[in-house]
Amino acid sequence: MHDEPILQTYNLSKRYKKRWAVRDLNLIVRRGEVFGFLGPNGAGKSTTIRMILSLVKPTAGRVELFGRALLRNRGSVLKRVGGLVEAADFYLYLSARRNLEIVSALRGDHSSGDIDRVLDVVGLLGRAGDAVKTYSHGMKQRLGIAQALLGNPELVVLDEPTSGLDPQGIKEVRELIQRLSQAGTITVFLSSHLLSEIEQTATSMAIINQGSLVVQGTVAELLASGPSVIRFDARPRERALEILKASPLVDTATVVEPYIQCTVRREATAALTRDLVESGIAVHAIIPRRSLEEYFLSITEGTSDVHAPDLSPPAGITGERLP
Ligand SMILES: Nc1ncnc2c1ncn2[C@@H]1O[C@H](COP(=O)(O)OP(=O)(O)O)[C@@H](O)[C@H]1O
Ligand SMILES: [Mg+2]
Repeated sequence: MHDEPILQTYNLSKRYKKRWAVRDLNLIVRRGEVFGFLGPNGAGKSTTIRMILSLVKPTAGRVELFGRALLRNRGSVLKRVGGLVEAADFYLYLSARRNLEIVSALRGDHSSGDIDRVLDVVGLLGRAGDAVKTYSHGMKQRLGIAQALLGNPELVVLDEPTSGLDPQGIKEVRELIQRLSQAGTITVFLSSHLLSEIEQTATSMAIINQGSLVVQGTVAELLASGPSVIRFDARPRERALEILKASPLVDTATVVEPYIQCTVRREATAALTRDLVESGIAVHAIIPRRSLEEYFLSITEGTSDVHAPDLSPPAGITGERLP
């Protein structure tokens, strides 16, 4: 079931005036995947999603959904797709259920069973009678996802669904996406500007930068590929640098203030830390980064409109990012 392509783009391109927002993008999303679409702000994620949902007309290239050209089968294929682009708009003084009833009726669907089902999926059934204005940001976002789930779509496309949420809201939405995919009947396409976000939810991913595809593959493959980088905060530093340079596990070791940065070909964090400690070195911090992470940070750090706190080097010794 994971082999059948459900969404494919062929040289998909969009130009605004003289600028290409998306250029020659070839994506392939297979049934049952959670597909992460990762890129810094301004990379072209929303433009791509709008073209997939037929909200924006491509300048060149095309989209195929369920093996059929979107352009010629718009009505029939889009019935099988649910989308959430930016935050959904709701009537704040009406209840969640009433809001979904209105959307449902606009779609020509009047089955109230479907509304209860989607409210249940997103965990809002108990609050369905409350006015949306009493909802937290995370609850509103879950309601937006509920709306995207109306009509039982085979593919759900979510544009930065955790953007702007607090850590609790992020956790709720992430768990919801995991639940959706575990049911096995739905394919999820979600965008994000955070690698950690994609890593935790997606099974496959593509990275886009300045409108072009950088890489695409399974998350496990991409995160395991290539050399990785470890940063040590170790004292005395000169002695630590000598030890790391002499290690057969280390390809290169250089000072990147205030750290020593090593490139290694395979996982070596534990062995190198032990070598340092056994030589009497005080290790204050260890920051491992995979090559994909290193790469993604290098392209995003060079982008001025990225919010620095989201992508700053991790705090603490585990390399975990703060939420
Ligand atoms: N309606 C538009 N008119 C002109 N330029 C646009 C429009 N929408 C997006 N862009 C430009 O296209 C590029 C990609 O934007 P977008 O797809 O929103 O990126 P992302 O969602 O990855 O942050 C940006 O340079 C943006 O300024
Ligand atoms: Mg966007």
